[in-house]
Amino acid sequence: MTGVPVIIREPDPQAVASSAAAHFAATVTAALSERGAAHVALAGGTTPAATYRLLALTSWEGIELWFGDERCVEPTDPESNYHMACADLLRHAPGAVVHRIEGELGAQAAADAYEARLHARFGGETPVLDLILLGIGEDGHTASLFPDNAALGIEDRACVAVHDAPKPPPDRVSLSLPVLRAARSCVLLATGNGKAAALAGALGTPSTHVPSSLLARERLTVIADTAALPLP
Ligand code: 6PG
Repeated sequence: MTGVPVIIREPDPQAVASSAAAHFAATVTAALSERGAAHVALAGGTTPAATYRLLALTSWEGIELWFGDERCVEPTDPESNYHMACADLLRHAPGAVVHRIEGELGAQAAADAYEARLHARFGGETPVLDLILLGIGEDGHTASLFPDNAALGIEDRACVAVHDAPKPPPDRVSLSLPVLRAARSCVLLATGNGKAAALAGALGTPSTHVPSSLLARERLTVIADTAALPLP
């Protein structure tokens, strides 16, 4: 937690999306070249949608798309992160392998199923993804790891059940903090002045009160607009 993140400050949300799409493409290309595969976890919420719409890779072969978190709803529910990703990305990513979190099973069963899928693909150690895209909530949460929530403290799992989330729905599934910290690259996206306080917390003293402050900063790139990250 002592590393220094890369900060990319853009003038507006569209420029953030362009920058994030370029970072996505470069990271995936490097992973495919170095290891023959690229494992990316998609962010939920609304911020990444503009990025997903800009992604236009010439090929999605060898790319495996995971999810950083999911709400415990049906995949057809407009609140589903998978549903959002389908609309903005998955429909134009032919050849990509998609690993959906089956949120409709309920938090623990879905977390257990995704845990098994992760270990089947990565082996018994902590899964190391090439890129994890993340958003940030106004309370400093990221993925579905919320301030002082019990799920934040689970260190011996790759995927955790989340209950009592303050952002509806209360039941969710999330990659664990160890997996977020193990990723070769995390990109945190933030736009709008509503995220300014949370992002300042994310870049401040690490604390369980601000889960995004616990990311591995030496492998973190923050891409934000000037509303979310005002010029000093
Ligand atoms: C979710 C997301 C969550 C999101 C932030 C920001 O399922 O809600 O994973 O972590 O990224 O809450 O959401 P917005 O991008 O909609 O502001």
